[in-house]
Amino acid sequence: MALVLRQATQADVQRIISISTQIWDGDDYIVGVIDEWLADPRGAVIVAVLNGEVVGYGRWAQLWPGYLWMEGLRVDPVSRGQGIAKALTRYLFETARLQGAESVALSTYLDNAATMRITEACGFRRVASFIYTEAKTTAPVCAHAQLSPQVQVLDTGTALDFISHSTFMRASGGYFPHGWCFLPFAVAPEAVFARMRWILGLRRGSEVRAMLCSGHPRRHQQEFMIDFVDGEPEAVEILLRHALALARKSRSVEVMLPYATPQPLAALPILTHLGFELEHGGEADTFVYEKTEF
Ligand SMILES: CC(C)(COP(=O)(O)OP(=O)(O)OC[C@H]1O[C@@H](n2cnc3c(N)ncnc32)[C@H](O)[C@@H]1OP(=O)(O)O)[C@@H](O)C(=O)NCCC(=O)NCCS
Repeated sequence: MALVLRQATQADVQRIISISTQIWDGDDYIVGVIDEWLADPRGAVIVAVLNGEVVGYGRWAQLWPGYLWMEGLRVDPVSRGQGIAKALTRYLFETARLQGAESVALSTYLDNAATMRITEACGFRRVASFIYTEAKTTAPVCAHAQLSPQVQVLDTGTALDFISHSTFMRASGGYFPHGWCFLPFAVAPEAVFARMRWILGLRRGSEVRAMLCSGHPRRHQQEFMIDFVDGEPEAVEILLRHALALARKSRSVEVMLPYATPQPLAALPILTHLGFELEHGGEADTFVYEKTEF
């Protein structure tokens, strides 16, 4: 097989999109981000070309100096099982190494056996575990939506202090989610806050009782992402109901919560009570992998 790996160009977009539309019933996010990825000077999209045709791709991006993120690995359904994803992962990883990365990271989902195999075979180490849950805004969950006058927009200094001392951060091993992308909060708080659209809190006097952050959506307005929520249970519930009201124009509300044992985070039973479904019954299903040895 004549497999060539090279940087993608605008001429590959049509083929990239045609592969993407065959994945997850056409609900793949690549279509909405590919132009932005190709234009992004902090990274590159790599395509795998087999016998002259693009059959797969993936992307790396420098999210923070020394911290590289890999994502968007896709192989055309008719070309799977030939080692193309593995070759792409190795190439992406080699490229990242040449950028002077101190660490390269990615995330995978529990049901994605192929990606788990590739990631572990390439020497990545699991560094954090999360629970992913979502609700459509047409679902009964949204009957709980309620804007609260008690909710305030917090400044980043207050937010930094709350997040740094939160149970959420202890359980997440220091990784802060933005959808399916994760940043080490302690080294890159500016990069985290730059991705946030809402930084909301509830106070008692000057003390913050609970906080919720929602990031800018990947696809224009389509999903409302709750990237951080933690604090006193009663205040967390008010914040979640407030967020559901803000999300009314989005297609879905997505929440990424760190997996904590034996005591789950305060938000988990509240989300269940509000009607969010847990595909794996509250077990960890989203994993962050990192490689720091080259
Ligand atoms: C995941 C994906 C990229 C794999 O592409 P691929 O080219 O078929 O993968 P490879 O042929 O390189 O296989 C890599 C490894 O995974 C294993 N594998 C592949 N498909 C598998 C499956 N469905 N179940 C279990 N293992 C699988 C292979 O056996 C191989 O392991 P080995 O080298 O130990 O034998 C492809 O299935 C895909 O595009 N899926 C949809 C998008 C997606 O899930 N992307 C990843 C998002 S994190």
